[in-house]
Amino acid sequence: MSSKKINVGLVFGGDSSEHEVSIKSAKTIYNALSDSGNNKRYFVSPIYINKCGFWGDYEYSKSILLGHEKSNANIKITKDTANNLSNLPKAINKIDVWFPALHGPNGEDGAIQGLFKLTGKPFIGSGILGSSLGMDKIAMKSILKSFNLPQAPYIYLNKEDVLNTFLMQSIFDKIDKRINYPCFVKPANLGSSIGITKAYSKEELIKAIKVAASFDERIIVEKFIEGRELECGVLGKSIMRSSVVGEIKFETDWYTYESKYNENLSRTIIPAELNIDISNKIQQLAIDACKAINAFGLARVDFFYQENTQKIYINEVNTLPGFTKTSMYPMLWEASGLKLEKLVASLIEISRE
Ligand SMILES: Nc1ncnc2c1ncn2[C@@H]1O[C@H](COP(=O)(O)OP(=O)(O)O)[C@@H](O)[C@H]1O
Ligand SMILES: [Mg+2]
Repeated sequence: MSSKKINVGLVFGGDSSEHEVSIKSAKTIYNALSDSGNNKRYFVSPIYINKCGFWGDYEYSKSILLGHEKSNANIKITKDTANNLSNLPKAINKIDVWFPALHGPNGEDGAIQGLFKLTGKPFIGSGILGSSLGMDKIAMKSILKSFNLPQAPYIYLNKEDVLNTFLMQSIFDKIDKRINYPCFVKPANLGSSIGITKAYSKEELIKAIKVAASFDERIIVEKFIEGRELECGVLGKSIMRSSVVGEIKFETDWYTYESKYNENLSRTIIPAELNIDISNKIQQLAIDACKAINAFGLARVDFFYQENTQKIYINEVNTLPGFTKTSMYPMLWEASGLKLEKLVASLIEISRE
């Protein structure tokens, strides 16, 4: 490796439920950075974190990335070695820039961003604040509200509130008045639709709260917005750009875990068929939402669009969106004229701004 090359620490895997998706995202990024246009400028150091939190060395990580893990599975994971930062590979001192290809808790919520910050090296994507605000749906929605950005009405509760009959009565009253049925019940800190229920009645709501509470202390109940699901990519730091808008169509009642990860049950339409005013508004709102929560670098902002009222609602900001070949974020940029190889290089340059 030439010493002039920028050493990119590509961190992937992790102890979240999106471990496998993360490996696929990392593969896509690795291949794009190894492309002949990029490999003169960048050298990629893959760093795999297994499901116990063990950080693999270069050889092991690369073998996972290339799918040869069995032949190279020479690292034993014991309780003593799991989740121990002393296992960080020594080579991390040589990293010039961090590229987290992680999703969900620990990867997307500010935890690893804090660690990157302590190494004193730049990293791709949002910092600690934007990452944690993007991860926690209650925090995110309260910031969006304070910026007067459009979103579905919601209420939130804590796991312990369920034990307080008096408090629960007032919550049910609020739901009857402001939210009604069906409504969406979600754990505040998760992704991939895990732990989410669409509740059609009070009985289903009670069950749904229990489900959400088994994943998180913090629970959010949202008004059901009947509309199209649109997504927009954001790229940049001092100057933010939005991609074309894409649409998700699915065969299930809503965009569930099942339809997210089964190609036969969902598809994307890029660009979405929209009138130009709506599309412009969504592109502007995507940037506004990122600025509100202090997300930058990259983000995918998801929306509901109600055609009959022409109303747009922000659903969420994903600060480390999926990055596989068939993921919305890279596809949105490709359709906006930025090929994958250029996109990953831009992300690195933006982080070094
Ligand atoms: N308020 C809502 N109205 C209509 N559908 C919703 C609402 N909230 C969530 N959904 C459905 O649930 C899916 C997952 O919800 P989301 O909040 O995006 O969670 P996740 O972070 O797991 O992706 C959405 O893509 C949508 O299909
Ligand atoms: Mg979502």
